[in-house]
Amino acid sequence: MPSERAPVIRARDIEVVYPGHPPVRAVRGVSFDLFKGEVVGLVGESGCGKSTIAKVLTGLVRPAGGAVEYHGQPIRPLGVRRRPLFQTGIQMVFQDPGSSLNPRRPVGPQIRDGLELALRRRRQAGPGDPAQPAGPTANPGDWLERVGLAAGDQTRYPGSFSGGQRQRVATARALAAEPDVLIGDEPISALDASTQAKVAYLMSKLAVSQGAVLLFISHDLSVVRLIADRLLVMWSGRIVESGPTEAVWSNPGHPYTKVLLGAIPAPDGAGRLPAVPAGTAAFDAPPVIHDDP
Ligand SMILES: Nc1ncnc2c1ncn2[C@@H]1O[C@H](COP(=O)(O)OP(=O)(O)O)[C@@H](O)[C@H]1O
Ligand SMILES: [Mg+2]
Repeated sequence: MPSERAPVIRARDIEVVYPGHPPVRAVRGVSFDLFKGEVVGLVGESGCGKSTIAKVLTGLVRPAGGAVEYHGQPIRPLGVRRRPLFQTGIQMVFQDPGSSLNPRRPVGPQIRDGLELALRRRRQAGPGDPAQPAGPTANPGDWLERVGLAAGDQTRYPGSFSGGQRQRVATARALAAEPDVLIGDEPISALDASTQAKVAYLMSKLAVSQGAVLLFISHDLSVVRLIADRLLVMWSGRIVESGPTEAVWSNPGHPYTKVLLGAIPAPDGAGRLPAVPAGTAAFDAPPVIHDDP
């Protein structure tokens, strides 16, 4: 991405330590920028720290070190329900739709909650505020149609939809809040193979058309490759390789990325990235950073 543009998210030297005996150093000095309108894939094996990064960006986890800025303002770790209004411009879709949607409410009112967040942010933000939502505000029925469902589905409960449909609803709810950062934490991992790419495409298309950046977290590179402009490859709490998707794909430089690409699962949804234990000396190679074109 052109360096003269201001990033929407700027993360520098993030460290996260979970308490315990011994404490878990889940994230060890991670830095990245996210720019408006791009799709960034964050990939790596289970336990490498991907969800922790998502939680830092949404203020659910307080980093032990480093700084994360959203439009130049520090992200305040306060929990998802008590976030400052400004920070609701960062929205998330989780793997388990039970975390994104309330099973006891029809989906229409839940999408309306998103719309109201956008309206409140609009009122609070002054004109010219870069975090001010810009898009037109729709209604829940419009949003259901945008994600390929019917406007009349508003009265249905999350449990009455298929897994793929629920992730469409969760996407609608998140995007109705007019975020400029959408984070999908393994949003397609629980879906069957025939649905995964469709939901991933939909999320990326809608997020980008709204001018948001999509941070798409996955262990399945075969789908990430289809939608991501840029990849961040994580291993053992660090970003070990980053760059435009095609550059990383065609010329992987870090030993872990090579293992990862060599083990690409068929796009059948069953694949898991290979687990390389932390501390494996050959994998402690310096990070490989591909220049942006
Ligand atoms: N709340 C927690 N308390 C203690 N350790 C945790 C907690 N959450 C995650 N971890 C540990 O932190 C590391 C990174 O976890 P996570 O960010 O969930 O990885 P990923 O999403 O890549 O699978 C793992 O070793 C995991 O076991
Ligand atoms: Mg995770």
